[in-house]
Amino acid sequence: MSTCEKKKLYIKTYGCQMNVYDSGRMADILAPLGYQATEILGEADMVILNTCHIREKAEEKVFSDLGRVRDGQKEGALIAVAGCVAQANGEHIIKRAPYVDIVLGPQTYHRLPEMVAKAHRARDEKTGRGRGIVETDFPLESKFDSLPDTQSIQGTSAFLSVQEGCDKFCTFCVVPYTRGAEYSRPVASILEETKRLTDQGIIELTLLGQNVNAYHGEHLDGAGTASLAQLMEAIATHVPSIKRLRYITSHPKDMSDDLIRAHGDLDCLMPYLHLPVQSGSDRLLERMNRQHTAAHYLEILERLRKVRPDIALSSDFIVGFPGESDQDFEDTVALVKNVGYVQAYSFKYSIRPGTPAGLYEDQIPEAVKDTRLAHLQEVILEGQKAFNAACSGRTLPVLFDRMGKTPGQIVGKSPYLQSVHIQGPESLMGHIVNVHITHGYANSLEGVML
Ligand code: 5AD
Ligand code: SF4
Repeated sequence: MSTCEKKKLYIKTYGCQMNVYDSGRMADILAPLGYQATEILGEADMVILNTCHIREKAEEKVFSDLGRVRDGQKEGALIAVAGCVAQANGEHIIKRAPYVDIVLGPQTYHRLPEMVAKAHRARDEKTGRGRGIVETDFPLESKFDSLPDTQSIQGTSAFLSVQEGCDKFCTFCVVPYTRGAEYSRPVASILEETKRLTDQGIIELTLLGQNVNAYHGEHLDGAGTASLAQLMEAIATHVPSIKRLRYITSHPKDMSDDLIRAHGDLDCLMPYLHLPVQSGSDRLLERMNRQHTAAHYLEILERLRKVRPDIALSSDFIVGFPGESDQDFEDTVALVKNVGYVQAYSFKYSIRPGTPAGLYEDQIPEAVKDTRLAHLQEVILEGQKAFNAACSGRTLPVLFDRMGKTPGQIVGKSPYLQSVHIQGPESLMGHIVNVHITHGYANSLEGVML
């Protein structure tokens, strides 16, 4: 196939926002080879499954989807497995699914063009199938240095990866093994990418990292390393067309004084923070190696609320962590009620191979996990409904980004990431407009333009 011949690329993304960003970048890298996105599996010349390894279910889904890809693919299509399942399972994927051509980890996707060429060369003449190429080493070069300058962007919001990897080693988590040690991009390179994004119309930027608030990238003009707060100050100063700034995901231990202060000082920083606590029980927090107590977490929230009284909070929770007693679980429920999250994610603990908690003997029966999860999700939903209902009567700035389902309806995002529906002209798309909220539903708000 010649380089400029048009080909179709189908990418399925699992898991977190970091994977969504990575999938976009893989598409950007393959564009010069003639690959254009398609949502139809059967017409794709190349299929990439960008996988997630965080919980067992996500991993199993990849293997069942691979079977579907094999049966539904266009004759001769290349099949690649990327992301964290690829990183963790490497050769094993080729053994279990021998029709896979390429297995690549999250740190090696800048080498995709090379791998695609290799995969074509490696195609077995007789069967037309590949001999799986596996690239899961942590390379010396940073992929960020080899990525194309431009991201293909639609709309007004974008994600930008500023930090990767994790050195925290929570006992339940595979991320330190699949994504490797903490790495932060230099401020200059982030500013350049941010400016390019604003040239394409972006006004809302979410900084991404597995441990984004541990960010410590090289500062401008050799001024040592910058913290996340300093990075955000630099963005606010040098790229004022960014009107909304967010960051995910954070660890309580890295909520430094300057970062808390930034929530009071930076106008563009949205009053919304996803700060996972996982459990409300000190005993479990210790066993999880979270390196903080529930009281320490609550104290951080108090300090945040002092500088930014309207800050809204979100979190992740794990139920059924090994050894979780009824009392431990009640402590979590109490913490949720105490904080009043505007939304939160909760998961049943799932054993991950190679992690310490997978070896703990006091694993919790599935049925207990199910009951606890259902209960916790009810409590979280109550909090979410209460917050949305309390928004009724308030005026909120809304960034409109899509058309609604009914005629004349447009939809946008509040500072708290709620969907807001109004009757309004399409010309508001991409603009931030004050909206008077008239109704707060469980999952969205309704309002009228002021
Ligand atoms: N089991 C269940 N949930 C997990 N998470 C991470 N590892 C596991 C696991 N082994 C959850 C945590 C984390 C989120 C991204 O996924 O809550 O914050
Ligand atoms: Fe996983 Fe803990 Fe690191 Fe978050 S901080 S990525 S939960 S090890």
